[in-house]
Amino acid sequence: MTIQDITVRNLDNGPNLNTPKYWFDDNIFLSHFFNAISSTFPEGERFFIRSVRYYEKNVQDPTLQQQITAFVAQEGRHSKEHDSHIQILLDQGYNALTTFNRNQRVIGLWLNRRAPRFSLAMTIAIEHITAIFADQILSHPHRWTEPMHPTMQPLWRWHAIEEAEHKAVAFDVYQLVIGSIWLRRCAMLQATLGFLTEVFVRHSVLLIKDRAFRPSILYKGFKAIWGRHGFLRILIPALGTFYAADFHPWQQDNSELLNQRREQWGFQV
Ligand SMILES: [Fe+2]
Ligand SMILES: [Fe+2]
Repeated sequence: MTIQDITVRNLDNGPNLNTPKYWFDDNIFLSHFFNAISSTFPEGERFFIRSVRYYEKNVQDPTLQQQITAFVAQEGRHSKEHDSHIQILLDQGYNALTTFNRNQRVIGLWLNRRAPRFSLAMTIAIEHITAIFADQILSHPHRWTEPMHPTMQPLWRWHAIEEAEHKAVAFDVYQLVIGSIWLRRCAMLQATLGFLTEVFVRHSVLLIKDRAFRPSILYKGFKAIWGRHGFLRILIPALGTFYAADFHPWQQDNSELLNQRREQWGFQV
């Protein structure tokens, strides 16, 4: 992977007023599952940007410097587009998201200020989680983006492509300036538990608001995310690789698949 492969793109066809409330296959459980994930992105991505930028001054390698610039630009645009999605959810009355995001912002800012090493370790852990999700979306469009309403597909495809492109940037900065294997392992434990809890709580709140926190809906939905081929189930084997001492994000080389989807979905380099 070279710097040319991390391309900063604008998305000009994100979700809008024509996006239906249950935009994932008309399925309330899965629509809110992806709403919950989407709503964590903007504050999360701003946290990643601050975490990487803190160590930018320690990076002398011009290629890595350019990659940091591209990483920051991509994540900045992602947070903007997911902010627009959150705005649609707020307009639909899911106001609790404001409180969640305010708390997430306060914690993120505090960590950046008080614990920059841990912040970067958390960043690479969550970047690995998002790289796994991105690979899922790139690998199985029939499962994950084709069931989406057409106004939602570009957002998730664009984000998946760019997460795959920049998946090693924060990691390479971490290796250069920190490098501790145990710190990144601890961060991954914390990131996994924190992320799953956060998504579960947000998802539950969205479902409760729509009076959809019912056994029949939960049972079928739970199977869709934790059952065979489930969106979260795939995390279990894929997260394990991160704990290896010699882990690197590009050990899982999905560049060919990435190229294929860029072409197919119209996100050129
Ligand atoms: Fe992103
Ligand atoms: Fe990312």
